Amino acid sequence: MFTMKIKKAIIPAAGLGTRVLPASKAVPKEMLNIVDKPAIQYIVEEAAAAGIEDILIITNRGKGVIEDHFDHSYELEDKLKDNPSKKDLYEDVLACSNIANVYFLRQKETKGLGHAIMCAKSFIGNEPFAILYGDDVIINDEYPVTKQLVDAFEKTGKGIVGVKEVPRKDVSKYCSLDVTPHADNAALMDVHNIIEKPTEDQIMSCFSILGRVVAPPQVFDYLAEDLANTPEGEELYFTDTLARLGKEGNLLALDFDGIRYDMGNKLGIMKANCEVALSHKEIGEDFKAYIKDLASKI
Ligand code: UTP
Repeated sequence: MFTMKIKKAIIPAAGLGTRVLPASKAVPKEMLNIVDKPAIQYIVEEAAAAGIEDILIITNRGKGVIEDHFDHSYELEDKLKDNPSKKDLYEDVLACSNIANVYFLRQKETKGLGHAIMCAKSFIGNEPFAILYGDDVIINDEYPVTKQLVDAFEKTGKGIVGVKEVPRKDVSKYCSLDVTPHADNAALMDVHNIIEKPTEDQIMSCFSILGRVVAPPQVFDYLAEDLANTPEGEELYFTDTLARLGKEGNLLALDFDGIRYDMGNKLGIMKANCEVALSHKEIGEDFKAYIKDLASKI
């Protein structure tokens, strides 16, 4: 089967981040760090590791520091360049501006994820693309999760949503998928329906979409229709648009292999920092000793 290569990605990062206030008042939640890198850098690196060359980050007012982070910082680079003891830092700083072609667009009103994605229509054009939610960091250094989705798309030619089973008590915070196994691939499922923020009696499975999607360009036609039908003041759920792909047999769910951290809530941020710190090459050993000592006291 011939499928187009995925060369473009969108990272929606224009949310208000109310669940992590006051931290996110002046600093975008996507710029909150995990040890020594902002969350959004992990995400841009993941997209680049999947062979994606052009990445559009959707921002809004007050998120200009995201642009600065992926730009050169000549003064800093100049200072570090000539200092042999700071060679690694120089390379780290320089690398931020060279990960991929990173573009920016503002969502002028915070009208939800579906609306943010719609803003990227002319950037994407008529080709399939990846979406990486700006507050979901998913770690798998050997086989990045976006690459897992891209490979599944290239094999099947269908839209792919990255899913994980979440505890039943939490499904109502996410979405619930109606799925059945797909052919002979244990990790792939056919998606028949999706319900956003289901009530207990609407739960079809505990599989929820967690932060990664590969979509065909038709999704923009569906989004345009759905946005036109969304009453003023109501938020369009992007999952409702994805559900339309599912109902016509064009959407698969991939139970991805990776550890996902929700950087949009306080506990998620703490878990990400703790776990990444434990295996960090510079501070890992000291942090482990500190955690063991702390754990013995609580
Ligand atoms: P969330 O609903 O998790 O983000 O959206 P939020 O709106 O910032 O969260 P809270 O509830 O206020 O804490 C998922 C992703 O979609 C982006 C967010 O930045 C996040 O990466 N988003 C959301 C947009 O780009 N635009 C929007 O209008 C809403």
